[in-house]
Amino acid sequence: MNHFKRFIICTLFFTSFNHSKAQIFFKTHPGINPYQFETIKEKLFTHAAVTSAHPLASMVGAAIMQDGGNAFDAAIAVHFALAVVHPSAGNIGGGGFLLARTNNGKLIGLDFREAAPAIASRDMYLDEKGNPITSKSLEGPLASGIPGSVSGMFNAHVYAKLPMAQLMEPAIELAQYGFVLTEKEAGSLNSVRDELLKLSSAPSAYTKNTKWKKGDTIFQPELAATLRRIQINGLAGFYEGVTADLIVKEMANGSGIISTTDLKDYQTKKRVPIEFDYKNHHVISFSPPSSGGILIAQMMKMISPFDIAAMGYQSPAAVGLMVESQRRAYADRAEHMGDPDFWKVPTRTLISDAYAQQRMQDYTPGVAGNSKNTNAGHAKESEQTTHYSVIDKEGNMVAITTTLNGSYGNKTVVAGAGFLLNNEMDDFSTKPGVPNMFGALGGEANAIAPGKRMLSSMTPTLVTVNNKAYLTIGSPGGTTIPNQIYEGLINMIDFKMSLKQSIDASRFHHQWIPDQIQVEADFPDATIQALKKQGYKVNQRGYFGRMDGIRILPNGKIEAAGDKRGDDSVAGY
Ligand code: DON
Repeated sequence: MNHFKRFIICTLFFTSFNHSKAQIFFKTHPGINPYQFETIKEKLFTHAAVTSAHPLASMVGAAIMQDGGNAFDAAIAVHFALAVVHPSAGNIGGGGFLLARTNNGKLIGLDFREAAPAIASRDMYLDEKGNPITSKSLEGPLASGIPGSVSGMFNAHVYAKLPMAQLMEPAIELAQYGFVLTEKEAGSLNSVRDELLKLSSAPSAYTKNTKWKKGDTIFQPELAATLRRIQINGLAGFYEGVTADLIVKEMANGSGIISTTDLKDYQTKKRVPIEFDYKNHHVISFSPPSSGGILIAQMMKMISPFDIAAMGYQSPAAVGLMVESQRRAYADRAEHMGDPDFWKVPTRTLISDAYAQQRMQDYTPGVAGNSKNTNAGHAKESEQTTHYSVIDKEGNMVAITTTLNGSYGNKTVVAGAGFLLNNEMDDFSTKPGVPNMFGALGGEANAIAPGKRMLSSMTPTLVTVNNKAYLTIGSPGGTTIPNQIYEGLINMIDFKMSLKQSIDASRFHHQWIPDQIQVEADFPDATIQALKKQGYKVNQRGYFGRMDGIRILPNGKIEAAGDKRGDDSVAGY
């Protein structure tokens, strides 16, 4: 009998005899209390650290490393824990990207992005007149791509040290024995109650007759049972058997098209990361089907000839320069980027120094550009997601961004299985020239095709300095993600901010079309007025993103920071 099965049988043995002993993980880790916990926004650690969207998930990750796990073990445990404690984005019904660098310098890129089902087709979200029916790619079973997260975690497990059963146990116990809701999570669940009821075939653990409030305990027995099936049966516990049947049954309640074959055939793919240098920093980020790595490489290269530090932090000159790089790079996103297995993405050209220089030739400092005159370059070659970061005591770095796409995905909870499905199909270009949920345009490169993965903006990113581990960072926020990472890196590298300052700093975002700069509410007014005088349209909006990062300081201490914008929290030892 292998280690894995023995662990489960012991668990089930205890469960059937004594309720209190059933909590193997939480009984042996009394320092983590699912019914009372605090958010820690910033802390220095000596050995290892985790930052994620939820304090319980971060604490679980840190404990796994103290129990002998490495950064991969922690990342897997955090992923499953987030699927329970942060259901708006944490998931087993979605997908994502894992980017890692081992302590001996090996880079790993795992693409567990959702894929279009086998009978998906290019015009599946258009009516008979050829107009998009937006609700179809956003709500209910038809909006879901084939989930990749569980496959992603099993592929990551190759690099881990502890049995998968042990890594899943905290999540199962959180689902089975409950945890208390934070104010934000309670409010968030209340805000989607009616849609969850409308778009799921049966009521779920996420809805009840009265409103959720801070301090309420939420129990998710169906999700616990699904996770237990995965714990016992491995990949087949999700992609085959009972869970797969429940997913397909939920499809039949809407007009969903994911089949048992789609599920059985799903594969995580290895991707070669994007790498580039910026002012003594070596940046590593995700390649297509994410647009993130290419975008940050393009933008940082476009501004590298300028002394942006001398222009001043959030000065009109610095923001204007960065916005013009954003405009040009995002124009390329719409034209050139898609799933590389279906579309030839001219990556090498797009991230080259020469191309960056050529794209900035028509840049005039102090004058707003115009997206009507900024098309994609010629580059032919022969809002809910979650990010978490881990660094372990050996110096392995893992960055994972994972998503259901919209908050609570397609808002369909698989009846009997207790988890939400994604609405990632909306990230495809459902019709050329028609914007998706994030206002992003696309064309042929990102058209729907069976088995194809939709273009993403998720940007899990690592940085090394002098070939040594330095930083792991990422954020949710749809098309704003690459800009958030870009700004965070510039804040640290050029404006010499701490990790926490860089993360909390007020953000701006330009994505070519619409031709406007979006700024957060606390963005300096003087800069807004100056930019308007230069000819920019500036729109204030609420916060975007929840950036989480960890970096290793010159004295060897590990600086972990969670975004002020959410319940994000750090843990470590
Ligand atoms: O992959 C993407 O780019 C989107 N599906 C991410 C969605 C997201 O970040 C939503 N979060 N606010």
